[in-house]
Amino acid sequence: MRVAFLLVVVSTVSGTPSEKVCTYWDVVDYLNLTTDADFFKVTRPTLDYRNPTVLELDLLLFAILGVIEKTQTFIPFVWTSMIWVDERISWDPNQFCGISNITIPKEMIWKPDILIYEMIKKDDSPSNPYVFVSHDGRVTFDDDIKLVSTCRLDVHKFPFDTQRCNITIGSAIHSVEEIRILPLSNASRITQFSQELIRSQGEWEFLHLSIANLNLTIYGRVWEQLVFTFVMKRRPHLHVINFLLPILFFLCLDLASFFISDDRGEKLGFKVTVLLAISVLLLILNDILPAMSNQTPLIATYCILIFALMLLSLLVTILVTYLMDRDSELKDDKQEVVPGGTCNTEEKIHTIRSCTSNGLEPVAKEVQHNTTLLNATFKPDDSHIFLLILEELKELRKTRNADAGCKQERGSSFIWATRINKAFFIFYLGSVLVFLPAIFIKWTH
Ligand SMILES: *[C@@H]1O[C@H](CO)[C@@H](O)[C@H](O)[C@H]1NC(C)=O
Ligand SMILES: *[C@@H]1O[C@H](CO)[C@@H](O)[C@H](O)[C@H]1NC(C)=O
Repeated sequence: MRVAFLLVVVSTVSGTPSEKVCTYWDVVDYLNLTTDADFFKVTRPTLDYRNPTVLELDLLLFAILGVIEKTQTFIPFVWTSMIWVDERISWDPNQFCGISNITIPKEMIWKPDILIYEMIKKDDSPSNPYVFVSHDGRVTFDDDIKLVSTCRLDVHKFPFDTQRCNITIGSAIHSVEEIRILPLSNASRITQFSQELIRSQGEWEFLHLSIANLNLTIYGRVWEQLVFTFVMKRRPHLHVINFLLPILFFLCLDLASFFISDDRGEKLGFKVTVLLAISVLLLILNDILPAMSNQTPLIATYCILIFALMLLSLLVTILVTYLMDRDSELKDDKQEVVPGGTCNTEEKIHTIRSCTSNGLEPVAKEVQHNTTLLNATFKPDDSHIFLLILEELKELRKTRNADAGCKQERGSSFIWATRINKAFFIFYLGSVLVFLPAIFIKWTH
């Protein structure tokens, strides 16, 4: 073709009468494409019916428009390239000023009846109206397809998942004796092309594409199929920020709420609020995940376990609050029995008495001993001051012991409440520390 072009340039420059001028129409006319239209359209393009038509096919990925887990749909935007040989078409480029290729409307000649098995919706994007025909009969047809296809999406590891979706291409009615389907280029080349072409920088990262050739046998007839497998990885950041982290934060809040004083009802209210916040987040999950799945998604396990732990902690808080309330009620009853007897007056006096009667005996003796010692070493007026200080200290110790006794006066339910609270907090923290790392390891491996 380049030689022909040079010849034309040379001939115009040199001014000699130009050679024959050719048009594409000449080729079309020569082939009888318009006058003998049916001949090129109706039957498979072979001169001997026993020869199969070999269809070579490429599928390149332009973009991943969507992966919908709920409906198990994979929507890629692909570019298909098909090449086959029409044995009825051939011309000598030298007779037509070197024209070696023409483009003609695709309706004018036979086209293979290609079927994409996973496709569930007709493609509505504009289709390429032309085919490219070579002088040796090779016909090339390229087209863009927005493929809405079904794909079995495994959400077990959502949102740290890698998905594999198949696109199976085969002839609708021609068996392997009539149409053979082969890949045009190998998988690594297609992967490389796709990675260069891919436009979308969305949720999915395209990893690679593999091609497999398989024969499908139905009713004794064999169909050849080409299976393109797209492997892609989800970019999980959005889901982590939107979903996993907030739930984790709520869990931390719930853990922190153990440090709110038990005496007041605030703790209970706080825990209920956190639990409600988690339930709202669970609604989002319901929108994303499909109803059916072979294995329980790890994210569901994560949510349910956290939810269960928080529910348990709420129940424990209710129990603790109940025990404390009972305790204070019991105490109130006691105080009613002894009118005017509060912890600070009569009980205290009682404790002081009991304390001095046994526990403080040695101390009192020691004090007396010290006084005699002091009397011996210091002058009477000095020792007097020390004595006063000692008296003051004794008084202080008595009051302190009395206070301690007053606290111990609290009922057994209060002690149990504190114990339960402490034990549950340790259990809670422990299970969180075991379960979270375990689930994250499972998730990312
Ligand atoms: C086109 O048709 C004419 C007349 O029917 C025939 O002579 C010619 O051989 C045909 N050309 C080709 C390429 O078959
Ligand atoms: C399918 O059948 C054809 C024709 O019999 C054969 O050439 C080809 O190797 C087969 N392909 C596979 C994958 O078995």
